[in-house]
Amino acid sequence: MLVNSKKMLLDAKENHYAVPHFNINDLEWTKYILEKCNELKVPVILGVSEGAAKYMGGFNTITGMVKGLIKDLNIEIPVCLHVDHGQSFETCKKAIDAGFTSVMIDGSKYELKENIRITKEVVEYAHERGVTVEAEVGHIGGSEDNVTSSVLNATLEDCQILYENTGIDSLAPALGSVHGFYKGEPNLDFETMKKINDTLPIPLVLHGGSGIPDDKITKAIECGIAKINVNTELQYSWSQAVREFLNNDSKSYDPRKVIGSGEKAMKENIEKKVRLFKTR
Ligand code: 13P
Repeated sequence: MLVNSKKMLLDAKENHYAVPHFNINDLEWTKYILEKCNELKVPVILGVSEGAAKYMGGFNTITGMVKGLIKDLNIEIPVCLHVDHGQSFETCKKAIDAGFTSVMIDGSKYELKENIRITKEVVEYAHERGVTVEAEVGHIGGSEDNVTSSVLNATLEDCQILYENTGIDSLAPALGSVHGFYKGEPNLDFETMKKINDTLPIPLVLHGGSGIPDDKITKAIECGIAKINVNTELQYSWSQAVREFLNNDSKSYDPRKVIGSGEKAMKENIEKKVRLFKTR
């Protein structure tokens, strides 16, 4: 069932676990994630970046694909289809109009005032249509550019101001995590994380979930993280397995075999994350 993220994330916040957000990059990934999460009986958020949306053809194609897979594979878990790091109101509107059930408006490249303005615009459009909205405060490093804000880590005060002025459903405060693999040991500000969680009634999101040691993930969940985004680790496990398959088999050319050779490794990784996040 395609749903927004409201109920699943509030339940996670209340019961101290995190809902996995896995980024999708193609049909096969979407299928593997849905099959594994359905087998484990856990809700899942399918994250679609602007780049991935373009790669797969566009938001309408993705909605059709996800709805079709849910039906044809008899997927019974709650599935949320979510824009990851929407860069503008127009992107979020396009996704909502195509049937996405949740969007992230990433106004983190702006100063707080402009972040609030753009986030509020998205919230108004989304809420009228039953779609949930995630916002970002501070700036999660790694993949985005054009940062005009001098602030990197989120403060409790800025999170409060953004929440009170926009009515968002969930918040990703930048507290030291980055997208992609970490160069050293990740340095997460758990103290501020806990303070934000204790102060705001909405669930918190941890971006850059790849490469964070297990004990730090557990601590983040204890500090109130209710959704964890993972992309790079799935990309890595899938591509390692495909590389090994091709290195050992010079004759295969059927794309179903080549792409499918990454299925097992990806599904193992998904299950590992679900258990670590205490979703199951
Ligand atoms: P990783 O690629 O580091 O797992 O981060 C994913 C993410 O945060 C997507 O928003």
